[in-house]
Amino acid sequence: MTINKNQLAEKYNVSSRTITNWINSGNFSVTRNPTTRRVIWDKNTVENLEQFVRKNNEKTSVQTNQQEFNIENRRYLGAKSRMLDFIQQVVQNNTNGVNKVADIFGGTGVVANMFYQQNKDIIINDILDSNYIAYETFFSQNNFNTNKVELLIRQMNELPLKDNYVSEKYGNKFFSTENAKKIGEAREFIEQQQLNEREKAILLTSLVYAMDKVANTVGHYDAYRRIMDTTAPIVFKKPNIFNGTSKAKLYQEDANQLVRHITADLVYIDTPYNSRQYGDVYHVLENIVDWQKPELYGVAMKPKDRSKTKSDYSTSKAPLAFDDLIQHISSKYILVSYNNMAHKGTGRSNAKISNDEIMKILSKRGHVVRYELPFQAYTTGKTTLTNHKEYLYLVNVETEAKIND
Ligand SMILES: C[S@@+](CC[C@H](N)C(=O)[O-])C[C@H]1O[C@@H](n2cnc3c(N)ncnc32)[C@H](O)[C@@H]1O
Repeated sequence: MTINKNQLAEKYNVSSRTITNWINSGNFSVTRNPTTRRVIWDKNTVENLEQFVRKNNEKTSVQTNQQEFNIENRRYLGAKSRMLDFIQQVVQNNTNGVNKVADIFGGTGVVANMFYQQNKDIIINDILDSNYIAYETFFSQNNFNTNKVELLIRQMNELPLKDNYVSEKYGNKFFSTENAKKIGEAREFIEQQQLNEREKAILLTSLVYAMDKVANTVGHYDAYRRIMDTTAPIVFKKPNIFNGTSKAKLYQEDANQLVRHITADLVYIDTPYNSRQYGDVYHVLENIVDWQKPELYGVAMKPKDRSKTKSDYSTSKAPLAFDDLIQHISSKYILVSYNNMAHKGTGRSNAKISNDEIMKILSKRGHVVRYELPFQAYTTGKTTLTNHKEYLYLVNVETEAKIND
């Protein structure tokens, strides 16, 4: 009896598109019809696929056996993990006396983390709860009981599974049903423990990072893959926390309000660029962290009220908001990240602020130099984004910030 690709996809719990991708990437050899070049699912091809899947699973289990995760180990739209050297070089070569850095659109927190590990004081801020808990985990100065946290993470991995809010809402959609049950049970377990604020943040961060590893998505929660491609079991790990000696202040505020009451030597700015609201894109993580268990709507299962995470930077108000932000900053230097992947326009992925607007607004505060990341530094060999350019604008601030208004 012959077997076809769809049956194999079902057997290995992946989509047939995934099998095609594996073939196209040369992951295993196949027999082809000499005329049509179509793949023939003969004994050899099926065995080669089997061998590849086995090896791949072994690799996954080795990765998941690592017991710790680092702050940069998550997928996040616009994360600057691969641009840290560039940021570091621009700051090191062109500034003086930078001892306190404010990362006011913090996202994953990797930029603030780089400065924190250099023993600089940091201020970090973001409007999302699922980001703020990671700041509490990695940067809070509050104590936590290491043994207790490690024990609870071990227990989270061993909870008996049953149907729950997460499996009902996201099972077989954003997560496999098994993983969704585990996420729901772990979240309820966290809620029932006697924990101080930091301990709770650590357990929630462990949950958020683990969810990211098994989410059936391309890295955000605007949509899930039609076919459940991610069946590896979820594993909760402990965070690898750097014991810094410098000070860290954590905020969860609209950045435009925050700059009115903080000062730093350098303020780093990495706003959203387009109309994708981060609160929408990461709604699943927000919902799990907040644990209010609201009703969810639409194919992407979003809660109705997402107003608390709405950002002006993803609307036509962005240029005005950016101008207001820049004019109220009290700092020696302002450093702004920007890339040219989106052009200003009305579409969803179009930029909300143009290059010219950024330059004009920044120039009101002092001399601006624009640095461009060399293309080779950003590409990974496979990337074919030939026009992609990453910029950093550095302002040497010369004028006073506007008085609070
Ligand atoms: C481009 S991402 C930052 C990425 C970050 N630099 C990193 O490396 O992970 C922009 C971030 O700004 C946050 N954000 C959007 N509007 C905001 C506002 N008004 N105030 C503070 N944070 C905001 C979003 O939640 C998102 O995490």
